[in-house]
Amino acid sequence: MSAQKGLNLTLKVWRQKNNKDQGQMETYQVSDISIDSSFLEMMDILNEQLIGEGKDPVAFDHDCREGICGTCSMFINGEAHGPGREITTCQLHMREFKDGDTIYIEPWRAKAFPVIKDLVVDRSAFDRVMAAGGFVSVNTSGNTQDANAIPIPKADADKAFDAATCIGCGACVASCKNASAMLFVSAKVSQFALLPQGQVEAAERVQNMVKVMDEEGFGNCSNTGACEVECPKGISLDNIARMNREYLSASVSPSES
Ligand code: SF4
Ligand code: FES
Repeated sequence: MSAQKGLNLTLKVWRQKNNKDQGQMETYQVSDISIDSSFLEMMDILNEQLIGEGKDPVAFDHDCREGICGTCSMFINGEAHGPGREITTCQLHMREFKDGDTIYIEPWRAKAFPVIKDLVVDRSAFDRVMAAGGFVSVNTSGNTQDANAIPIPKADADKAFDAATCIGCGACVASCKNASAMLFVSAKVSQFALLPQGQVEAAERVQNMVKVMDEEGFGNCSNTGACEVECPKGISLDNIARMNREYLSASVSPSES
């Protein structure tokens, strides 16, 4: 059985020393890349090559390498997480490319996600949005009700679960011309709004999360739908509509304070 020849590629990679540096694209060549390797494995090979040449390796985020942690943020040929639908960069394989291709690799670009180095951006703005309300307060003092004792309609449970699959990767922000975080925030609001456990704090949650989202410098939603197309978890725009309803109803409800 003859082994398939590997890919020879030209990589145009964004290099930026730190947040103050202006940054620029650098050109690298990699050769004999197996079509079975993942995109991140190809980046590892590039970095081994750079280290061998005494150069600074390309900084990029990664952790699980199986589509769960949401850290492998990269813009590849102008698309968040590259070609292919509903995958993260770590789930992208080199078989999607052809021998001789030139691949452009850039970080997420959004005011709220400043570049730390090369392809690594600071997504802590998402953490601050979550800290503002992306949780359910539960009394865990020993008298907690068994979650299975609360009946939940199957359709609601399914929608809540779908919303909860958001991995906080930020592709929605990076793909949006306004750098809006509405898909992310609406997924987090929806996963609780659909369940009885989340309804106690629902009004407070949506108002606080939206407030922090705006303060962090994310843009407004203008319904282009780019976020939904590029989301690796297929989070639906329906969540944005639900969050808008939640926000409106919280704004008109009489406040307890
Ligand atoms: S909504 Fe989708 S694209 Fe946005 S952070 Fe969640 S998983 Fe990533
Ligand atoms: S490295 Fe975890 S989702 Fe890609």
